[in-house]
Amino acid sequence: MTTPVSPAQTAETLRDALAGLLDGLPPKAAAQAVERLIANYRGRTPTDAPVLRDRSDVVAYAAYRMPATFEAVRSALAAFADAVPGWVPGSHVDVGGGTGAATWAVGATWAGRRPVTVLDWAEPALALGREIAAAHPDLRAVEWKRARIGAALDLGGPDTDTLVTVSYVLNELTDADRASVVDAAAAAGRAVVIVEPGTPDGYARVIEARDRLIGAGFHVAAPCPHSATCPIVPGEDWCHFSARVSRSSLHRQVKGGSLAYEDEKFAYVAATRFPPAPAASRIVRRPQIRKGQVLLDLCETEPSLRRATVTKRHGPLYRAARDADWGDAWPPATDE
Ligand SMILES: C[S@@+](CC[C@H](N)C(=O)[O-])C[C@H]1O[C@@H](n2cnc3c(N)ncnc32)[C@H](O)[C@@H]1O
Repeated sequence: MTTPVSPAQTAETLRDALAGLLDGLPPKAAAQAVERLIANYRGRTPTDAPVLRDRSDVVAYAAYRMPATFEAVRSALAAFADAVPGWVPGSHVDVGGGTGAATWAVGATWAGRRPVTVLDWAEPALALGREIAAAHPDLRAVEWKRARIGAALDLGGPDTDTLVTVSYVLNELTDADRASVVDAAAAAGRAVVIVEPGTPDGYARVIEARDRLIGAGFHVAAPCPHSATCPIVPGEDWCHFSARVSRSSLHRQVKGGSLAYEDEKFAYVAATRFPPAPAASRIVRRPQIRKGQVLLDLCETEPSLRRATVTKRHGPLYRAARDADWGDAWPPATDE
């Protein structure tokens, strides 16, 4: 019998499993592998060959980037789960899943076992993902399959309750492959969650995917409170959020400094074939706390962007605003 790992313990289990990867590896060698990986990614345009070529590449990816991609996907899934109360994925397909960050994030969001398939074209990433997943009883049966994203990608389905995730992948694809992966996800999934880096380009790719999903009949569940056109003027701003990530000694070594955490910026869209219950509005910037008031930048159902000022006069709402975070739904749900 194995001890079950609760969603709350999943992040800790992942952290321990990733720390174990570096055991026995001289810290300098680990830092060099990370620097090589960063250099390989820098200025890269999509090519015909995987960036993650061997074990040292994937160990560097898992130890250095996976904690951040995990937290970003977990944060997106938390907002998504709030918009689909009662819905639990019956199965999960993670496309371009690499070492499996999204499978851990799903485990950290919804308890229980479900069939999970991770698809990627980099065999060393899949092999390491399988190794790391051995630490989580619910992830030991995950199927790790080699597949290339392209026009021929077929994820099967539609299946009744499949969740398809595509996390930090669109960035690595050609325009045509980006369209193919979103179309394949829409054909297979009842719900699709796409996460990208929280940069202007990442946001643009998310909006492109969002439009495609809506075109395929999906409803946006999060972060947007609506499925209409995004009110942000392209080029003027970009919708993104932030997830806190604990820094490991490897991070401190590569990036310098002694901060115990860093903030991973990400953009995302979560969409469903069934009507979701999106937030009335969402806080789209870090709230600004002033003396006696909190300023909240909100995306609303209209759809429009608005700055709300919540003051002491608002009583419990003011207290809630002081506790509110960038990315939260607003107003907060009441327990009535
Ligand atoms: C930045 S990693 C993200 C991995 C994982 N989804 C995460 O969030 O940590 C991008 C992944 O996409 C995979 N990938 C890129 N292009 C691909 C393609 N054309 N077909 C299949 N996988 C691809 C890479 O091998 C890599 O594992």
